[in-house]
Order: sequence, then structure tokens, then C-alpha cells
Amino acid sequence: MRFNMAGKLLNFGSKLFKSSKNFINAAYVRRSTSTNARKWTGARQKLLTFGALTGAAGLLMYAMDVSVDASSDCVHPSKQGWGHKGLLSAVDKEGVRRGYQVYKEVCASCHSLKYIAYRNLVGVCMTEAEAKSEAEGITVHDGPDEEGNYFDRPGKLSDYLPLPYPNEEAGRAANNGAYPPDLSYIVSARKGGEDYIFALLTGYCDPPAGFSLRDGLYFNPYFSGGAIAMGQLISNESVTYPDDKISPTASQIAKDVVTFLAWTSEPEGDIRKLLIIKVTIISTFLISLTYYIKRLKWSSLKSRKIFFMPEVQEKAKQESNKTDDCPK
Ligand code: HEC
Repeated sequence: MRFNMAGKLLNFGSKLFKSSKNFINAAYVRRSTSTNARKWTGARQKLLTFGALTGAAGLLMYAMDVSVDASSDCVHPSKQGWGHKGLLSAVDKEGVRRGYQVYKEVCASCHSLKYIAYRNLVGVCMTEAEAKSEAEGITVHDGPDEEGNYFDRPGKLSDYLPLPYPNEEAGRAANNGAYPPDLSYIVSARKGGEDYIFALLTGYCDPPAGFSLRDGLYFNPYFSGGAIAMGQLISNESVTYPDDKISPTASQIAKDVVTFLAWTSEPEGDIRKLLIIKVTIISTFLISLTYYIKRLKWSSLKSRKIFFMPEVQEKAKQESNKTDDCPK
């Protein structure tokens, strides 16, 4: 009885196999005689048109950008070799440390850095203890306490860097009506990034003949329009570095503060670069493996030849019918 069942199962299996084989053959034949080829050409035409249009739009945008550049009212900053540019380079942490000092001593009296907290400095340019003592140097207005009173307390790691002015109006009033912008994202926010800020800080000079400046404005060829409300703040030895090996020339100070501002604009930049490298290595491995497995699995399907021979099939059918009639 059991033997009989097994025989039936086997028979059913072989029938299934045969019918599926017929099905593949039929499908194959229908496919090769169908008009799919023309449809593909249509899709390709659409793809080509789309590609050409995208390319043209890109070119137009580039041309517009260049033409705006050419007609701008300031000198273009020259390119500097920043150590942190490029996929394989990290931000110069010593530069960030010196830049923080420059920001604190020179820029912080006018510019806020409101998106940077003391905790962000830990592990980048300070140890935790250093950042803590740095934070304790400021006074924070906090509250209310249990009795509902507001109080002043020393800063903590979680506090953000202090603001130079309580609001924008106070900032404008102190600077002849011009508002010193927040510097947290300034490197990302200005065309030319680091190169521009560096050129701006080191580029002050006398105005050319015939250029009249309003009171309280200074001439800077890198600033749009040439007249800026911020005076020259960086000159040789305007900051004293604790490390005697680094001489505080104007360009060194500007470079350090710009490195610091480049870090504040992208505090997660190094982590992101590391992640890109990891993803590239892992996905190179996984994609090649997937490609290999795909080739392997499809090799038998892709390399076989299927012939449509009705007479052979007919014969095979008769044969199978014959075997079906056999006594079980
Ligand atoms: C005395 C106040 C003061 C100090 C100190 C100061 N700035 Fe400024 N800064 C200003 C003002 C005011 C403006 C706005 C200028 C304008 O719009 O004409 C400005 C604008 C800027 C800009 C934006 C320029 C642009 O393209 O809009 C940058 C960048 C900048 N300052 C960087 C710095 C750095 C870096 C330091 C420290 C080395 C610093 N500033 C110190 C007052 C100051």
C-alpha cells in the first residue's frame, strides 16, 4: 500500500515536471516571436530624452552660476589647501583647539555660536575636565527653583556657548546697525566656504581711489559691495598661543579660526567620512558577492538552449501516456 502511494507520488511529480517543461517551451517560443523589441525602443527613447533634458538643465544651471560669478561685485577668494578637505582626511584637532581660543578671545564679543554646546568640544579639542572647567567660566541664568525664583549658576557641559547680545536689536545697536551673524554654520552658509572666510579675515586693505566709505564701514574687497561693518580684527600676534612652536601670524590665526568654524559647521563630518569608507568597503564586498551568486544561479538558465519541436513533444506525450497505462 505504502509502495503504491510512493509510486503515485513519483508519477505525479514526473507529470508536473513534464508539464512545467512544456510550459517553459511554449513561453519561450511566444516570447521570441512577440513584438517586445519595438516596445523596448520606445522606453529607450524616453530614457534618452529624459537624460538629454536633465543634462541640458544641469548645463543651464552651471552657466547661470558662472555668469552670476562673473558679474559679482567682489574679488573671488583664492583656493587654500585645507587639511580637512577630502574623503580621507579628518579635521585638524589642534587647529580646532587654537581656533576655539581665537573665537573666544576675538570673535565671541560680537558673534554667537548658538548651536555649539560645551559638551560638543569634548573629545574634539578638549578633554572632559577641560571642557567642564571652560563651561564653569560662564554664568547661566537658570530657574525657576522650588520656590519659583530665577537664579544664576556656573555653566555645565550641557550649556550652549554664551550669546554676546540678548537679542538681534542689541547686536545691531552695538554695531552701527549691522548684525554680526551667528557663526555656527557660516562656513556652509557662504559661497566659497573656508576660502571665503579666510580671505575675508585677512583681506582688509585701503579702498581704491574714488571709493567712498560711510562712517563705521571698512573696505574689504572680498565682501560683496566692498564695504563691511566689521573692522579688521586679526593681525600678527593679536592672539598668544600657549604652544611657542606655532607663531601667531595673521594668516595662522585666521586659518585656525576658520578650521574651528569648519568644524562647527559640520561637527559630525569626520564620523560621516568614516561611515562612507565603511559602507564603501562593505558594500563592495556584498555587491560583488551578490553579483557572483546571481551569475551562478542564472548560469544554467542563461546558457541553455530550448528548441521548439512539436513532433518530439508529441512523441514524448504518447510515451508518457503509454507509461500511465501500466498496471500499478
Ligand atoms: C566688533 C564686533 C565684531 C567682532 C569682534 C567680529 N565680528 Fe565678524 N562681523 C561683525 C559684524 C557687524 C558683521 C556684519 C557685517 C556686515 O554685514 O556688513 C560681521 C560679519 C562677519 C561675517 C560674515 C560676512 C558675510 O559674508 O556676511 C563673518 C564670517 C565674520 N564676521 C567672522 C568673524 C570672525 C571669524 C571673527 C573673529 C576673528 C569676527 N567676525 C569678529 C562684527 C564683528
